[in-house]
Amino acid sequence: MKKNILVIPGDGIGQEVTIWGKKVLEKIGQKYGHEFSFDEAIMGHVAIEATGNPLPDETLEKAKSSDAILFGAIGHAKYDNDPSAKVRPEQGLLKIRKELGLYANLRPILLFDELLDASSLKPEVLKGTDILFFRELTGDVYFGEKNRSEDNNFASDLMNYNRYEVERIARKAYEAARTRSKKLCSVDKANVLETSRLWREVVQEIATEYPDVETEHMFIDNAAMQLVKNPKKFDVVLTANLFGDILTDEASQIAGSMGMLASASIGDGTGFFEPIHGSAHDIAGQNKANPLASILSVALMLDISFGLQDEAKEVTGAVAATLKAGWRTGDIANLNTPADKILGTQEMGAKVLEFIK
Ligand code: IPM
Ligand code: MN
Repeated sequence: MKKNILVIPGDGIGQEVTIWGKKVLEKIGQKYGHEFSFDEAIMGHVAIEATGNPLPDETLEKAKSSDAILFGAIGHAKYDNDPSAKVRPEQGLLKIRKELGLYANLRPILLFDELLDASSLKPEVLKGTDILFFRELTGDVYFGEKNRSEDNNFASDLMNYNRYEVERIARKAYEAARTRSKKLCSVDKANVLETSRLWREVVQEIATEYPDVETEHMFIDNAAMQLVKNPKKFDVVLTANLFGDILTDEASQIAGSMGMLASASIGDGTGFFEPIHGSAHDIAGQNKANPLASILSVALMLDISFGLQDEAKEVTGAVAATLKAGWRTGDIANLNTPADKILGTQEMGAKVLEFIK
């Protein structure tokens, strides 16, 4: 198989972790006889510094003509502390999601048994958890009109959804539920928000197309609580952009760390694969970041964009084997982890490569 992959490392630790996602793709390509070719592009803070634009046209063009995109992370503390900045790294990510029509963000909560003791939650509460989030990614308050009054005393962000936007993500989530345990939980705030009432109405309609899937509707506040109380009760979770952003950061703690969670953003064109974690400037450039989320994003790319299930399993298996052998980055280590088992980004990435035989 011949594929052209665009690597966009982005900001902060994105630069360090995507190296390992790419190396894993190269090794899988050699082993299975695929021709993976790579190109690279800039986005985010690095792109603002170089061009003034968080998503340069050249990056967007390369993205549109590639077969899949491996992305790192975006953001810089400089902007977080300066709310008045008009040009921001995150705008690059939001624009590429919109331009590529990446309306469905799949975030699997993949819990490796070896990491049951890495979480702050009890192992018996976690064991057996397997959740697949479908976060809507190109609508909601993220993309609604923004306003600030001239006197600076008022601001607003419009939360809005079109029926078709809910329909298409709901269908994707139901299709996935059919291949899993046939349970879908749709999360909203329909007791308060009009957008959520439309969301619920549309999901109820789509549900009739999938009578074999059991549907539950849950309010976001309740879902946030149930997720830590009894995560095993969830299978496919379908939710809007903002709720999905927040819930999946919470859910990352089930898997032990933000550094473990991969994601796939898909729509009708090129797929976009990225860790759910941010640019983590506090540890950037120190060889401390966990490369596993980037490597697991590659597994999603192989599976979803290229239909290479065996290759995807090999990658996930190599991650499992690395963890089984006791290797940890700092974020997934705990007090029982021997100091000589705690690795830096590069050493951890190299271990995973060793397990792809
Ligand atoms: C994510 C991130 C982004 C989001 C930010 C960086 C714009 O938090 O991918 O979860 O909010 O979608
Ligand atoms: Mn987020």
